[in-house]
Amino acid sequence: MRLKDKVSIITGAAQGIGLATARKFAREGAIVVICDMQPSGVQAAVAACEAEGARAVGYVLNVARRAEVDDMVAAVLAQFGRIDVLVNNAGITRDARLQSMTVEQFDAVIDVNLRGVFHCAQAVAGAMVAAGSGVILNASSVVGIYGNFGQTNYAAAKFGVIGFTKTWARELGPKGVRVNAVAPGFIETPIIASVPEKVIDQLKTQVPLRRLGQADEIANVYAFLASDEASYVNGAVLEVSGGMTV
Ligand SMILES: NC(=O)c1ccc[n+]([C@@H]2O[C@H](COP(=O)([O-])OP(=O)(O)OC[C@H]3O[C@@H](n4cnc5c(N)ncnc54)[C@H](O)[C@@H]3O)[C@@H](O)[C@H]2O)c1
Repeated sequence: MRLKDKVSIITGAAQGIGLATARKFAREGAIVVICDMQPSGVQAAVAACEAEGARAVGYVLNVARRAEVDDMVAAVLAQFGRIDVLVNNAGITRDARLQSMTVEQFDAVIDVNLRGVFHCAQAVAGAMVAAGSGVILNASSVVGIYGNFGQTNYAAAKFGVIGFTKTWARELGPKGVRVNAVAPGFIETPIIASVPEKVIDQLKTQVPLRRLGQADEIANVYAFLASDEASYVNGAVLEVSGGMTV
């Protein structure tokens, strides 16, 4: 078990990559803290982790609301006494081309995908630095490296997350805290359910592996980066895209 007793907060863990990551962490022995906006999804994810034999607790919260994040972190510290891992996975899309994107669409994505990552990292950093150890993992995207049609807001946020990652790796590395980002390609989860089948087929042809990724294939990378096996990986942006950008 590579994450035995590591207290691991995973945001956006009610479905998709976050849920797969929570279950993987549970199988690796972690104490899993499920955070999401969907109350029934939080409950189900906690039950799924417990079914894997892990201790798990759930918090219904919006990462864009700082007070809710602070309350969760305080409660986790009160219950477990430390935080070993934060996976900043919660994310949304509100796609539109530059000329038709509304300010509301722009703000919604920046609030969750960028500001939410800042809130969670800042909330746990003190405890990690005090402990002299910890791991922060941020969800970027290939869109944050290369851009994407119709995703001005999302590309900006995911590019910003890479900036966070490199900055925090420099700031927190000397204190024993590693910070890395994962940049998935196109992964089969509810977030891409609205993408037309024709577009999905087209995307597959761009991937040398000729298929979309599965949530478990990202969860496995988070588990590696969270584990001591990645002890010299810091400030990295690990692309997990089946090679779609080579
Ligand atoms: N699926 C992909 O192809 C893909 C590719 C690259 C990056 N990503 C990134 O990976 C992460 C997970 O993606 P996914 O495909 O599993 O998405 P998803 O939509 O399936 O799941 C996202 C989860 O985040 C939760 N969430 C949304 N806003 C929240 C908020 N404000 N506070 C708390 N929870 C919130 C949702 O309720 C949901 O459970 C996202 O950051 C996404 O941008 C996904």
